[in-house]
Amino acid sequence: MTILVTGGAGYIGSHICVELLQHGYEVVVVDNLSNSSFESIKRVKAITGKDMKFYQIDILEQEKLDLVFSENTIEGVIHLAGLKVVGESVQNPLQYYKNNLIGTLVLCEVMDKYNVKKMVFSSSATVYGIPKKVPISEDFSLGATNPYGRTKLMVEEVLRDYYISNHNWSIVILRYFNPIGAHPSGKIGEDPSGIPNNLMPYVTQVAVGKLKELTVFGNDYPTVDGTGVRDYIHIVDLAKGHMKALEKTMTSKGIEVYNLGTGIGYSVLEIIAAFEKVSGRKIPYKFAERRAGDIAICYANPLKAKIDLGWIAKRGIEEMCADSWNWQSKNMNGYS
Ligand code: NAD
Ligand code: UD1
Repeated sequence: MTILVTGGAGYIGSHICVELLQHGYEVVVVDNLSNSSFESIKRVKAITGKDMKFYQIDILEQEKLDLVFSENTIEGVIHLAGLKVVGESVQNPLQYYKNNLIGTLVLCEVMDKYNVKKMVFSSSATVYGIPKKVPISEDFSLGATNPYGRTKLMVEEVLRDYYISNHNWSIVILRYFNPIGAHPSGKIGEDPSGIPNNLMPYVTQVAVGKLKELTVFGNDYPTVDGTGVRDYIHIVDLAKGHMKALEKTMTSKGIEVYNLGTGIGYSVLEIIAAFEKVSGRKIPYKFAERRAGDIAICYANPLKAKIDLGWIAKRGIEEMCADSWNWQSKNMNGYS
């Protein structure tokens, strides 16, 4: 069975490709490499000892995407291609709406033409906006605080409307919490361009000496130690969640949404402590003002995915930190 992975060269996509190949699927990747490198594709092949097809294509290019579907018998799509930097989306909203929203519309049109009706879509916990309480369940009210988040919300709505118009579709929307870690081989991992925006890549780059010190955004939140609390999830657990979601699209029609998180929240200081313990490296840090748009506490209620998909996150915080460190220390400059 052949699965198309859009954005398959990226951080999450490359780990999903490993799982797909190890589960015996044939894999076709479409990626424009705007935020990734072909090296990740090579490494996925090295980890699995299996081949997969790669097309360097922008999903906005309908004719080229059409060609991918005509050349391969695609049975389902895992749709990850998208831009994901919150600050950038505030600076350049049109780019985000075009890429994330129009890109998805183009993909759906081509899927429909080739009668491919199974999709797993990468959404984000960001669609919960400022949650009223934790843990966050799928039925909480939704809202976005920035253009990136709004593209995710809009795509969710588009997919819901699309299903209403055609009940033969089978769609699973996955709302990721905070993916960190790397494949235990240390061959693939997160490789942000420029200075990282997210906590873990910043920490690992401080640990290898590429950055001087971490800035902790806010120490006056109503949390255990005043720093922000998040639900960090190991990237391999997240990738495994996609296998379960894909199986769900194979066995039933409809549209469902699931949180992919651990259900446990850790503060920034707890992350630093766990990382220092497993890496043996000191992470110098200083406190600064809260980052605009940040919330105090965010963690998932992951029960729906457990009940419906039979999926739970198994890897703990130390394993997440150890695998992030393993990747960064073996690949000082990421894939380059
Ligand atoms: P990533 O940037 O590493 O991967 C995204 C991939 O999509 C990249 O390889 C990029 O080159 C590709 N891409 C972007 N626009 C494209 C286009 N128009 N055509 C073809 N390829 C395109 O990011 P990631 O962390 O792997 O995230 C994957 C998906 O998961 C994204 O949609 C992101 O919004 C979503 N997500 C990520 C997180 C996270 O913390 N990493 C959290 C929630 C949701
Ligand atoms: C951020 C995005 C979110 C996106 C997710 C994954 C914002 C406001 N939110 O989530 O929409 O889905 O990344 O891409 O950008 N922190 C520091 N110092 C740093 C970096 C982070 O103290 O240098 C803190 C943050 O304040 C937060 C925690 O670490 O409390 C996690 O931050 P981060 O990794 O950026 O994830 P989110 O903010 O949860």
